[in-house]
Amino acid sequence: MVAAHKPAPVDDELVSLLWTKDLPREHGFEPLSVEGTLPASLAGTLYRNGPAKFGQFGQRYTHPFEGDGGTTAIRIAGGKATGASVVHATTGLAEERRAGKLLYGLSTSWPRRFSNNLRKKAKNTANTNIVAWQGRLFALMEAGVPTEIDPQTLATIGHTDLGVVSGFFSAHPHRVASRNALYNFGLEYGRVTKLHLYELPDAGRARHLGAVDLAGPPMLHDFIATDTHLIFFVSPVRVHVPRMLLALGTFDQLFRWQPEHGTEVIAVPIDRPGEPVRFTVDAFYQWHFSNAFTRAGQLVIDYIRYPDFATFYQFGDLAAGSHEVDATGRFHRATIDLAAKTLRSEQLSDRQAEFPTVKPGDEGREHSLGYATFDNLRAIGSIDAKGNVISHQLPGDARATEPLYVDGHLVALCHTRERAYVSVYDATRIPDGPVAKIWLDHHVPITFHGTFVR
Ligand SMILES: [Fe+2]
Repeated sequence: MVAAHKPAPVDDELVSLLWTKDLPREHGFEPLSVEGTLPASLAGTLYRNGPAKFGQFGQRYTHPFEGDGGTTAIRIAGGKATGASVVHATTGLAEERRAGKLLYGLSTSWPRRFSNNLRKKAKNTANTNIVAWQGRLFALMEAGVPTEIDPQTLATIGHTDLGVVSGFFSAHPHRVASRNALYNFGLEYGRVTKLHLYELPDAGRARHLGAVDLAGPPMLHDFIATDTHLIFFVSPVRVHVPRMLLALGTFDQLFRWQPEHGTEVIAVPIDRPGEPVRFTVDAFYQWHFSNAFTRAGQLVIDYIRYPDFATFYQFGDLAAGSHEVDATGRFHRATIDLAAKTLRSEQLSDRQAEFPTVKPGDEGREHSLGYATFDNLRAIGSIDAKGNVISHQLPGDARATEPLYVDGHLVALCHTRERAYVSVYDATRIPDGPVAKIWLDHHVPITFHGTFVR
């Protein structure tokens, strides 16, 4: 196992802006200017979701993760593009707008926070991901149920439990190409925290596959799936239950890094969810997985590994005016031997990386290339199984977000200080830079995840 590798945080004012400056303007689909030539074969809509408002009524939220979600969508057809940006009109945000004051979150008064907790009332901010399923579109956050969005207008339709969700529905569903289904998990906090498992098939109803009891109440951001297993790295980030119950402190203070618990590896057979294999290794953290597959009876998992949970607190500090961002995430490949209950993890590259993706169709099976942002959002590139990175450094001080592979191209929402744009790369010629840029005329705050719908 590679030793923890911990460079100092870097000062990055533009990244700080992405995490703190509201979406300045909401609008329906309007024509966008295209620089370069959009490939004629590229047709569909890119949907991107992230926090779009970081406060209201003159009050700031205590952490960017409390931000109200918003979608920016770019529709591409016939070499032209239109774009729309909205803040999701969630039930909680609508109530606050009617009341003319904050009703939810940790910036409200303590009596209100306490009373919200007693009544189990919280705002579903729908601020992390947006996924398509059976022709429908859902904005997701990890501590709530899906929020359905109209794919044509981006209007908020409302919350749904998909008929099966008890508790939360994570913002990180993963597809398994060979099973023609999306998989996801959701936590249900209680005396014992339950990890619920869901299947969303391409046709037919959503299914609850089962539930696994967890040792403590974690923050669990992502997981990954192979064609046989759902795999979780449950890092020792524990919810501070007394603070949560008493509604004390800031968002940062609700979660504690407790490395003495280690990271629990849980591999759940999709067809036998009652028989998980679980064991604990030395503590590490991950926000995101890239892909996983089965090889010679072992599970192989690509992910971005961190030595600890420091990034979470740095994101909170951005809300308080800091410009320091962390640079510790590295691509790793882990191999799990289920019979021996061991995990071996090797760093693939020394380049900082985040927001990893793979080509549609590769999910759950062995892939040759993964895609990601590199160098603190300054580059977009691919990485192979040996850790060779081929990348393009963005011009000036532009920053990139999660690249998605679409029909031989990479599509990524990028940011300058004033405006956002979508870069379209030929996936076989990434270092040449984008073949086209689609320009919005305004700033868009950080988007975490999204999807491209043909
Ligand atoms: Fe995420």
